[in-house]
Amino acid sequence: MARVLSGVKPTGKMTLGNYIGSFRNFPEFQDSNEVYIFVADLHALTLPIDPNFLHSTIYDIVSFYLAAGLDPNKTILFRQSDIPEVAMLNAIMLNYAYMGETAEMIQFKEKSAKLNNKAIGVGLFTYPILMACDIFLYDTDIVPVGEDQRQHVELAHTLARRFNSRYKGEFIKEPRAVSPKVGKRIMSLSDPLHKMSKSDDREAQKGIIYLQDDEKTIRKKIMSAVTDSETNVHFDPINKPGVSNLLTIYGAMKHMEPEEAEKLFVGQNYGTFKKAVADAVMEELGPFQAKFNAFRSDEAKLEEIFSIGAKKARESAAPVLERIMKAVGIR
Ligand code: AMP
Ligand code: TRP
Repeated sequence: MARVLSGVKPTGKMTLGNYIGSFRNFPEFQDSNEVYIFVADLHALTLPIDPNFLHSTIYDIVSFYLAAGLDPNKTILFRQSDIPEVAMLNAIMLNYAYMGETAEMIQFKEKSAKLNNKAIGVGLFTYPILMACDIFLYDTDIVPVGEDQRQHVELAHTLARRFNSRYKGEFIKEPRAVSPKVGKRIMSLSDPLHKMSKSDDREAQKGIIYLQDDEKTIRKKIMSAVTDSETNVHFDPINKPGVSNLLTIYGAMKHMEPEEAEKLFVGQNYGTFKKAVADAVMEELGPFQAKFNAFRSDEAKLEEIFSIGAKKARESAAPVLERIMKAVGIR
């Protein structure tokens, strides 16, 4: 049995990109692996965030997990900050990652550029080290994430190898990232050269499908998606990024490659094609949203799930932390 672990940080309204690239893929692991899925609330503090919004978004994320089909009897579902062991491990691991490495992370470069390189919290810089600690604490083999998080998992892999070779032993499991076959990177509908990401920018929001948008809004956003001046539905991400992104979304919904999806729309105009994409998205999101609302309405129940999950997660984390503390000589 492999150990599988992943998380999402509660920093904004979840998008169709998060759904396709990340948590929709988690439940498939839970029948034949040991699965740990958590809400990365400490990571949410790496950029300024309103406390009330953060508090509420933590419950949103766990409700999305449950709506996607994660079963708390099969998967260990928890909140990152309920695990004090991660803070201890972080204090240790900070010494084994190099400043040059974290400075090279694409996410760090992008986010610090957005802050005009001023007032960058140190936590933003050390973000991938805390992430590595999340991964190491449960002896994780596999980390399912979208394409943009792959670099962080690779850094965790490097760090594990470095640690093991320095202390001459298999103290830390060396993890591997896996991304979904279709939908590793869903692009914005209004600006298909940029990724669809949680954003506060009002202009950008037109291109983002939020999982909590109502049906009318979702259909409108898809019908107004930017395409091109041609008239053929063809998969070609370089020359036809808008159409290709819609084909990727359609393919992700129908579990087929975008090239395969393309064949269904030969000779059809963009309007008909977009309508089919909107139908496919709603077919899956409609029932998903109903389940989400049911879970989200009971915060006491969600707290209970967190509390059971934390207990189980800490049972796995404690011996791993002990092993690492012994390796370095503080125990
Ligand atoms: P984030 O939104 O950066 O907190 O990412 C949460 C998870 O969703 C990570 O596994 C990301 O790789 C994934 N993800 C975020 N945006 C997208 C996107 N546009 N397409 C595919 N996966 C995504
Ligand atoms: N950084 C991930 C995100 O952007 C969240 C995360 C934190 C994570 N720790 C992790 C993902 C460990 C996978 C494994 O949402």
